[in-house]
Amino acid sequence: MTDIHSCANLYQQRFQSTPRAAGIAPGRVEILGNHTDYNGGLVFTVAIDKTITVCGEKIPEPRITVYSEALQEETSFAPEPLVKDSAHPWADYVKGVLAQLRKHGIPWGGFQAVIGGDLPIGAGVSSSAALEAATALFIKALYPYDMDKLRLAQLCRAAENEFVGMPCGLLDQFSSFFGEKDSIIMLDCRDLTHKILPLPSPVPRIVLCDSGTRHELVDSEYRVRREQCQAACRVLANLLGKEINQLRDITMLEFMDLEDAMDDVLRRRVRHVLYENQRVMRGVAAVQLHNLHHLGELMVQSHQSSRNLFENSCRELDFLVEEAMQIPGCYGAKLTGGGFGGSTVNLVQPEHTEEFIRAIQERFELKFGRPCPTLVCSVGEGARMVEL
Ligand code: GLA
Repeated sequence: MTDIHSCANLYQQRFQSTPRAAGIAPGRVEILGNHTDYNGGLVFTVAIDKTITVCGEKIPEPRITVYSEALQEETSFAPEPLVKDSAHPWADYVKGVLAQLRKHGIPWGGFQAVIGGDLPIGAGVSSSAALEAATALFIKALYPYDMDKLRLAQLCRAAENEFVGMPCGLLDQFSSFFGEKDSIIMLDCRDLTHKILPLPSPVPRIVLCDSGTRHELVDSEYRVRREQCQAACRVLANLLGKEINQLRDITMLEFMDLEDAMDDVLRRRVRHVLYENQRVMRGVAAVQLHNLHHLGELMVQSHQSSRNLFENSCRELDFLVEEAMQIPGCYGAKLTGGGFGGSTVNLVQPEHTEEFIRAIQERFELKFGRPCPTLVCSVGEGARMVEL
């Protein structure tokens, strides 16, 4: 849990003034439903107890100054025009949210803030969505406006799509706003309804194992997958003679009738998405029946599908999943988020956590000759705003 006071102290030191408010938002881990969100599909996700905090105060001048503790960098900019800055790309998430607020007619003015917290950057736990959510709530505390959590999550996603230029779905931002302690969220990305399911106790630990692989092409490969899913919609719409806007609009039976007529790559992408949706539904039943072993099996199937059908895994991630399943106490493991590198998520019995980490690190180092950093998390609560 982020210590809000350490952020407030940091602000005090940096700006010689007392902060008035903070927005605090968690990272997320996708448990099932890989690359289903932008296809109108189902996702199974949790917020974690690692957060980003944006903490500061209003200033009378029309100026914004933000300091990132993690990067030890400060940037300062005018409220208008809001433009991307390749020297401080992390500030684009802040600017993206400000630009969206303005687009929605929500007024805001000058402020200065520090960005702190214990959520690692670039480890596949969506620090970008957490920064967007924390910024939106921090501004809400300084310049109050009325907007519910769903619209806030959509606003933050739009910030990322339109300002940052990353064509992500709603998974990350939704998880950050809607997370609940020791509970898992099932989100239907078509009608935007969700269910919160309490996890049976003892609630498993979430262990993230960082493959250390950062595929240079992550963004472009993500885009390619999105385009392939859209291309598949057009092909299926032609074959079926009906409108298909997203892969969720096709039933499994319709797909099974038509799949032979499809190009192999597109067929595999569709197969992955449709079966992932089914796995999320099975995951709901597994959690309701307190059957975490079954949930774990579904995670491994999800990983295999990402590897073979969606082709967004890599050999380090595959190795980590295979080895994890040989270690006692691990219910399940899979890649999480965009893929092509990044981390695996492992659901581990609390009493086996230390032994699990020791074993997986040893095996990874032996195989790849480099360490495998891990992050142990609990399932945490969603984003919130604090007046200081
Ligand atoms: C990234 C994106 C999400 C989602 C996942 C894959 O995390 O930001 O919107 O598409 O990848 O499930």
